Amino acid sequence: MKSTELARSFENLFRSVPKIFRAPGRVNLLGEHTDYNDGFVMPCAIDFSTRVAISPRPDRTLVIRSEEFSEQFEFSLDNLPSQGRGAWSDYVVGIAVMLVQMGHPIPGASLLVRGEVPIGAGLSSSAAVEVASALALLSLNGARISLPEIAKLCQRSENHFVGARVGIMDQFVSCLGKADHALLLDCRSLEFKLIPIPENLRLVICNTMVKHDHARGSYNRRREECDEGVRILSNWYPQIRALRDVSVEQLKEHAAEIPEAIYKRCLHVVSENARVLAGAQYLTNGEVAQFGRLMRESHRSLSDLFEVSCRELDVMAEIAQDLEGYRGGRMTGGGFGGCTVNLVTTESSEKFVERIAERYRSATGIHPDIYVCSASNGASAG
Ligand code: GLA
Repeated sequence: MKSTELARSFENLFRSVPKIFRAPGRVNLLGEHTDYNDGFVMPCAIDFSTRVAISPRPDRTLVIRSEEFSEQFEFSLDNLPSQGRGAWSDYVVGIAVMLVQMGHPIPGASLLVRGEVPIGAGLSSSAAVEVASALALLSLNGARISLPEIAKLCQRSENHFVGARVGIMDQFVSCLGKADHALLLDCRSLEFKLIPIPENLRLVICNTMVKHDHARGSYNRRREECDEGVRILSNWYPQIRALRDVSVEQLKEHAAEIPEAIYKRCLHVVSENARVLAGAQYLTNGEVAQFGRLMRESHRSLSDLFEVSCRELDVMAEIAQDLEGYRGGRMTGGGFGGCTVNLVTTESSEKFVERIAERYRSATGIHPDIYVCSASNGASAG
């Protein structure tokens, strides 16, 4: 249905019949700020997707449009930019640039993007555009690249072309997520395991509607602090390559010798990795209350130790806790605004939505968007 409408708009604009590709946004259940520390994450793909319609052109031009924005972008394939310009089209053209750099040249093409992943809410609308664009462009040049490789290509584009130093989580789950499952990912080896989410649970995603301006700078700063932690810790543990290689005990042994802020960041990461591994086991066993407890601990750690929460996220996480049907919840994504994710029983989810919206409005004066989601399939044609 959504694809048919997009195909129709595409035909009106470009007078040719497109192929269509879809990639979802994501919500992360557990494992925050661990991906770029070679650690563990446990996200799900969600049932909001971005679709990209594409057809080849006879010239050497890439024409990129979106249904949400009015501008049209045009790039000559013989003179592609090497850096993004801060426009939404960066997420598409960056993929073309990476493919060319990898030795997979692409023909001229027209692309039309339709996104339904809320933008700026921390639900990875950018990964969704990147992955859908990658599938679309690859459909024209016939290169065979596996989904994990596509995820890496999209991450590289975001790191080097767009200029955001993100980890691999968002692109990976957008490629390989599975309906009704969370994806436990080892961000070092990229080995993953699908963990069924108990049937009677919904993912209720609560958008605080705030995004603090310093988010990107603070994200990069946190990465540097983690790198600094590795540098300091390798004085005692010369074999470590990342915080992934450090245990909570090893870290605590040197608490007094590490600057306080760096220590707090490291403590979050190493204990969050342990939570993901324990959480995966709990969820596999259907021990939802235990999993929910770890989600709450993760929120506290992100707020007190990693310091990437904000008042609105803390309020949203707090007011959920005594609502009927709540089984666990926390902030999700990079932080400094965006969303919380809550596990809520299906039968209580409607009431939960009403109540949490009411409570959040009266605490902050802001009207939140609330999305009731299920874990969904990763990227595909159509
Ligand atoms: C953003 C990044 C991810 C990850 C999270 C924090 O969503 O894109 O790679 O680092 O923040 O867990």
